[in-house]
Amino acid sequence: MNTETAKSNITYHGMVQEIITARCAPCHIPAKGGKKLALDNYDAITKNIDEIIHRVSLPMGEKGYMPKKNVPLGADSIAILKNWAAGGFAK
Ligand code: HEC
Repeated sequence: MNTETAKSNITYHGMVQEIITARCAPCHIPAKGGKKLALDNYDAITKNIDEIIHRVSLPMGEKGYMPKKNVPLGADSIAILKNWAAGGFAK
């Protein structure tokens, strides 16, 4: 896939929200009982994107690794988060 096309095609509502909701619930999704940093909205995710990318890139079991106690995000999902950030956080 062409990287530039990939970047411009990634939107919060199209892809990012789905990944976060699927993989970071219930802990970070208040509607599902989450009590940690709420990652259920665009502003919270853009504001914390560096920390999010850092943590999902850590090896499982390392301190700070996310999603805690769950299997790691696939390389494709991590690439989506990185390209979305690099592409300017399209909504
Ligand atoms: C099973 C519950 C659980 C899941 C699933 C989970 N987290 Fe967390 N998360 C935690 C806990 C507990 C902490 C606080 C302790 C720590 O920092 O390790 C935390 C902390 C964080 C923090 C630091 C801010 C804070 O709230 O303290 C970020 C950023 C984060 N998680 C991102 C994510 C992302 C992104 C995902 C999904 C890919 C995710 N987490 C999935 C439980 C979870």
